[in-house]
Amino acid sequence: MRYLDFIRKQKEYVPPADIPQKGHIDQLFETRTLTRDALRYLLESEDERTAEYLFFKARIRQKETFENKIYLRGLIEFSNFCRCDCKYCGIRKSNGNVQRYHMSREDILRCAELGHMHGFRTFVLQGGEDLSYSDDDICRIVSSIREKFPDSAVTLSIGERTKESYQKYFDAGAERYLLRHEAAAPELYRKLHPQAQTLENRIRCLYDLKSIGYQVGAGMMLHAPGQTLDDLITDFFFLQKLQPDMIGCGPFIPHKDTEYRNEEAGSVELTLRVLGILRLMFPEVLLPSTTALGTIDPMGREKGILAGANVVMPNLSPRDVRKKYMLYDNKICTEDDAVQCAGCMNQRMKAIGYRVVEDRGDAPRKVAQMCRKKSEKRIDGA
Ligand code: 5AD
Ligand code: FES
Repeated sequence: MRYLDFIRKQKEYVPPADIPQKGHIDQLFETRTLTRDALRYLLESEDERTAEYLFFKARIRQKETFENKIYLRGLIEFSNFCRCDCKYCGIRKSNGNVQRYHMSREDILRCAELGHMHGFRTFVLQGGEDLSYSDDDICRIVSSIREKFPDSAVTLSIGERTKESYQKYFDAGAERYLLRHEAAAPELYRKLHPQAQTLENRIRCLYDLKSIGYQVGAGMMLHAPGQTLDDLITDFFFLQKLQPDMIGCGPFIPHKDTEYRNEEAGSVELTLRVLGILRLMFPEVLLPSTTALGTIDPMGREKGILAGANVVMPNLSPRDVRKKYMLYDNKICTEDDAVQCAGCMNQRMKAIGYRVVEDRGDAPRKVAQMCRKKSEKRIDGA
């Protein structure tokens, strides 16, 4: 379907009388959960009427919490050194074709400064698991950004660490942490990672982060090599248990220097169905429409928003490093700079009836907590 047709269809949508799986979607809308079988039917369904009704219901939930606001996250890919060897990832340790780089604190601050000028109020520091930055280095980077931009939030996405390290980063001012669980089905996790990287440790990290008080993001790739729909449903149930504040979920895309170079990429349709289901399961979760989705479809990010997502993460990394942070082939925006990406995203969201806001975009649960704390302080002070 052409892009404009897709958008018009979503905007003018009126549910028809005969929608296959309508009962399942209504039940998910009301109760936030479904049986394994019902979820499988929904994931399998290629019926356009089912997908459109799912997105329609997902947008109702999205607008109840977020109206037509879209939160911006400025992604700063500050290092592509990585001690991990995830089999799907372009910057895995054993890929000798990567030109490695790491950015200095000054360079990182410059990216944040540019982002702040363009309305970004969240900076996501993402990198491979690069141990050349000590905990103190990370803390200094975080606290410098928080000091310079007190109205902005810092999200870390630097992989598996000890609870003590996570606590130090938190104390330095990092309030959010992204660590996709990648695959909650143990066999699939083992297949996608070397033996030294375990699902148990990944999950331990996520629970540690939660217990420290971070806003936590988990998530998985869709159509990862060997992933079945049942594996995906295991991810849904894992997420229901974890109750993260964010869920990062995009299609797998092969990278030429990995053993999965000839595997098929995830489809736009499956990705959108998953986003719709996630919005109904987690009405208040922060759900990005990912760069990977924008890579497999030029209008993927818009479609993701119309299927229930509410966050976009344009790149703030300097142009000269972008091509070196290739997790998968053909990644978009590697020729653009931060200013172009920010402007582009504003326009894209406006074109589909949403508005990018200059806001930290905290998880609603945290906003409620912060308000409670403030009013308790007022009462104590009175
Ligand atoms: N395709 C899509 N996403 C990928 N990631 C890593 N490699 C790929 C790939 N080939 C995702 C992982 C990781 C996030 C930063 O990028 O889910 O957590
Ligand atoms: Fe980068 Fe559109 S978001 S150019």
